[in-house]
Amino acid sequence: PAPGWTTSTDVVVVGSGVAGLTVALNVRKAGLRAMVVTKAMLDDGSTRWAQGGVAAALGEGDTPEQHLQDTLVAGAGLCDEDAVRTLVTDGPDAVRRLIEVGAEFDLDEDGEIVLTREGGHHRDRIVHAGGDATGAEIERALVAAVEADPGLELIEHALVLDLLTDADGHAAGVTLHVMGEGQRDGVGAILARAVVLASGGMGQVFSATTNPAVSTGDGVALALRAGAEVTDLEFVQFHPTVLFLGADAQGQQPLVSEAVRGEGAHLVDADGVRFMVGQHELAELAPRDIVAKAIIRRMHEQGAQHMYLDGRHFGARMWENRFPTILAACRTHGIDPVTEPIPVSPAAHHASGGVRTDLHGRTTVPGLYACGEVACTGVHGANRLASNSLLEGLVFAERIAADLAALAESGRLPARTVTTDAAHAATPVPLLAAEARGAIQHLMSTGAGVIRSAESLAATAKGLAALPDPARPGSPSVETWEATNLHQVATALTAAAALREETRGCHWREDFPDRDDTHWHRHVIHPLSR
Ligand code: SIN
Repeated sequence: PAPGWTTSTDVVVVGSGVAGLTVALNVRKAGLRAMVVTKAMLDDGSTRWAQGGVAAALGEGDTPEQHLQDTLVAGAGLCDEDAVRTLVTDGPDAVRRLIEVGAEFDLDEDGEIVLTREGGHHRDRIVHAGGDATGAEIERALVAAVEADPGLELIEHALVLDLLTDADGHAAGVTLHVMGEGQRDGVGAILARAVVLASGGMGQVFSATTNPAVSTGDGVALALRAGAEVTDLEFVQFHPTVLFLGADAQGQQPLVSEAVRGEGAHLVDADGVRFMVGQHELAELAPRDIVAKAIIRRMHEQGAQHMYLDGRHFGARMWENRFPTILAACRTHGIDPVTEPIPVSPAAHHASGGVRTDLHGRTTVPGLYACGEVACTGVHGANRLASNSLLEGLVFAERIAADLAALAESGRLPARTVTTDAAHAATPVPLLAAEARGAIQHLMSTGAGVIRSAESLAATAKGLAALPDPARPGSPSVETWEATNLHQVATALTAAAALREETRGCHWREDFPDRDDTHWHRHVIHPLSR
């Protein structure tokens, strides 16, 4: 639809989690105008739900080099080592700057940051806040900083639709659908000198996920339509320990942080046996893909719908002080972790892939940047190391802002925004009906979830292809756009998963059970024809 209203800024930031707000605050420091657009309320994205924390080599005896090694091992041969080096080297100072912005992390009696451990880390290096409410504290601090800057414009309840480009193919803004009132209601356009995607992940493409309802892959779908390269979509991380609420549970499910295992809780099967012991030197703290697979295998062996996480030995005080969020979530669902083991099973958690970027967050479309979960910076490879994602959002957001500041300073950022007439949008796609969302989730969880095969992926691809009904396109609304975006990313993810005929990291093909470095030590990049 043609935009009914237009506004302009220097940098439009799509998304308001740790990545988006960090970019916005930093470009403002560089004297640029910025506008943050977000689909729901400012703090409704995934950041607020992060429990475990932020990984950074801050502990005594720890070094960025050791953090790098753990990240590379988890990434199963597909990390970009330069990107990881950037992440782990910039990480400690990025955390310190976050503290300067106002984030309050848990401290010991001497005022030193308390660090914990999570899967795949050989050191205690996870910074946390409020016990298990790290993301909520980070989001609180960043939202407060953003709201304290009257020059930073915020548009909530705004679903970004498509990228606008100028005659040279440089990003020139976005079209968006605002559910508001007054001048900025309905479809509009924001013209900008640069566009930053920080719109989060796509967990809602599966039936059960730790991600909030807003995580519908909007940024990746926009990038696919705009022709930007998108990569590694097949590497979806399933978190091993999500509170089991029934085999048919749909939508966002309560996470039981890996930090619970980091503090010593045990994974046990239906017979109370610790099945991770002997499977990996780190037992319950093996990298996430290994733990998730072991859980699924044991579930199949025992014909069980879930396993258990046993932290009864923590005692009530530790549960209350260290894991208040998880304790409350479990009790809401009738489970008391103080007196009984928690039923857990894997659920979709984090997209390691996304819009391909370089070390400055630049995508393959000039002027279009990406950071946070929507991006594929190369730091995660085939499997993200726990608590590296908030850090990734922080570090690469700062680098994007620095790049934009340098471009503006040297006169290499377009001097001004284009006129509405000169801005081109991607070719419109027919909208799916809102009801397609449930069908997409079912198809993806059944055929493209934790365990995949050529047969299951082909069935999912066929089911997805049959969903659009050209005779009855959806009418424009957030629900129909979300269904359309979910469909677009699900289709691309399924194609990538079918192509990768090996098992690596969090991509598990039962028909190709081994890692194949001869053929697959490479990335699947969309558009697939390239
Ligand atoms: C968790 O707390 O287990 C999640 C941390 C992460 O996904 O990095």
